[in-house]
Formats: sequence, structure tokens, C-alpha cells
Amino acid sequence: MDHQQFAEGEVARIKQEGGDGIAINALSGGVDSSVVTVLAHRALGDRCKNIFVDNALMREGEPQQTVQIFADMGIPVELVDARKEFLDALKGLTDPEDKRNAVTDTFYRDVFAKCVRDSGATFLLHGTILTDIEETVDGIKRQHNILSQIGIDPEEEYGYKVLEPLKTLRKDGVREVAKAVGLPDEIAQRIPFPGPALATRIVGEVTEERVATVRAATGIVEEELGDSDAFQYMAVLLNDCATGIRGGKREFGQIIVVRSIDSIDARQATVREVPWETLHRISQRITEIPDVNRCLYDLTPKPPATIEYV
Ligand code: XMP
Repeated sequence: MDHQQFAEGEVARIKQEGGDGIAINALSGGVDSSVVTVLAHRALGDRCKNIFVDNALMREGEPQQTVQIFADMGIPVELVDARKEFLDALKGLTDPEDKRNAVTDTFYRDVFAKCVRDSGATFLLHGTILTDIEETVDGIKRQHNILSQIGIDPEEEYGYKVLEPLKTLRKDGVREVAKAVGLPDEIAQRIPFPGPALATRIVGEVTEERVATVRAATGIVEEELGDSDAFQYMAVLLNDCATGIRGGKREFGQIIVVRSIDSIDARQATVREVPWETLHRISQRITEIPDVNRCLYDLTPKPPATIEYV
């Protein structure tokens, strides 16, 4: 289908389904929610309140940069600081599904519900895509943003309706629509970054300190692999330690895994062959992060692995 037509169709649908109501749009800065933001802005203008929730799990500088990109496009986005709420909800949790549920509940039940109440919004726009729905329904993984498809009625559970304009598209289709609606390449080509953010890259408990470690490693990986056209690349903090030597002293330190994959739509993935020198440089830089003394490269395709670790 023509992507311009798709965009126009969804703008019309948002207008129709939204009626005279006020909408809240959760922008994460990824291509999915960015496209939804543009569609909603076109459909509703000021009646769509755009929010970026800082959940303490974002990459370095990401909340501020995202708000700025949209401000430059004339689309106002409010930054909501919910770092404490998310870190509190994640405290003590180690099971992947428990962590995802904590992020989902904090997002919808606490932070968003409050934004909705404060703004008088009757519905929420969401960048759910087809792959999210399929994997959750198939029981592979509970994506944080899936509600009605697994029997959660958001109106009953959280008090508002959810519109999902991208739910028939996969990632490649969303990128085409992003270009069609004039989003800059910086967004249209941005590598996927999951809603639960760095929590999906921390095996074991998510603490402020552990987020800082994986955030630093993520910055290095994104800098070193930013020019590659891989589908996705990331750093992951394991929940284990390894013996190492630093300053002539024995140290039982953290382990970071680097992953870079090729994929079309994230349903399957193969491992990217990163040049040896690049891997060496990444390893050297990552092991300069305090308390990290090992850096591994993940050679596992999807399946059997998923792309994220949580
Ligand atoms: P997995 O790890 O399931 O990831 O192979 C497939 C793709 O989806 C992204 N991902 C998520 N995106 N919310 C999201 O918005 C989530 O909960 C989530 N989990 C994984 C992942 O980065 C990859 O591109």
C-alpha cells in the first residue's frame, strides 16, 4: 500500500475515533511512537497532548534530545519525570516478566493514568506494531504495550481507550510511513529501542547503579556501531561476575555483552559480522567502565535467542 495514503487514512481514523475528545500521546523517540506523534498532531493539533516519560531507563541525554527534535518540528512535547516511580517499582525484581509487568503497570496505572486525569484526556495513542502483538499473543514475550490483544480492557483496567494506528505494520513499514510523513532520517532510520528501555538489557535487578553501567556501555556501542547499517545493536549487563585484574589487584567484576544483529522485522535475526578491530576497540572502552572487567560478543541468532535479554 502507498505509505502516504496509509498515513492519511490513519489521520482520518484518529479524527473520527477521537471525536471532540482530548488525547494523550506517549512519545518514546523511537520510530513507532514518533510516527504516531506526527499522525496525531495532524489529526488533532493541540487536542493531542504529547508526553515523554523519563522512566530512568533511557539512554544518555535521550529525554531532552527527543523533546528538542519535536520542538524543532513545531510539535510540543512535555517531559514527565517519573524516574523514582519506575525505579521503586523495579526494586528487588529479577524475573523478566515481573520486570516487564512492573514497567507496564507503572507506566499505565500510575504515571499515565495521572497524566490522563490531569489533562482530561479520554484516549491514549500508542505505537504498537504488528510484531509486538504477534509475539505477545503467541506467548513468546509480553511486550509492555500490549493490552487488549491479551484480554486487558484498558478502559476498564486503566480508565481510558487506546488507539493504535500502526498495529497492522511491521518495522520496515513504519519506517516507510515515517519518511512519507516527513520525519527526519535521524528518526526514520533510528534503530529500535524497546519501551521498557534499558530494563530489557539488565539481567537481574534493575538499580540506578546498574542502569548507569549499561547506559555507559550502550553509549560506547552506539558510538562505535552507529555507522553500521545493522538492524539493531546494544549492550547488555549480565547478572553474574567474573574474576579479573585491575591495577594489579584481583577484582570480581561485571560482564557486558555486546549484540549486533541484522533483521527485517525483528521476528528473526542473524548476527552481524562486526570487524575484529571494532570489537577490540569496543571491548577496550567498555572495560574502562568502573567495575566492568569482561566484554563478550553474542553470536546467537533469533531464534533460539530473542533480540533483547529480558
Ligand atoms: P525480542 O527481544 O522480543 O525483540 O526478540 C524484538 C524487537 O522488539 C523490541 N522489543 C520491544 N519493544 N517493547 C517494545 O516497544 C517491548 O517490551 C519490547 N521488547 C523487545 C526489541 O528491541 C526488538 O527490536
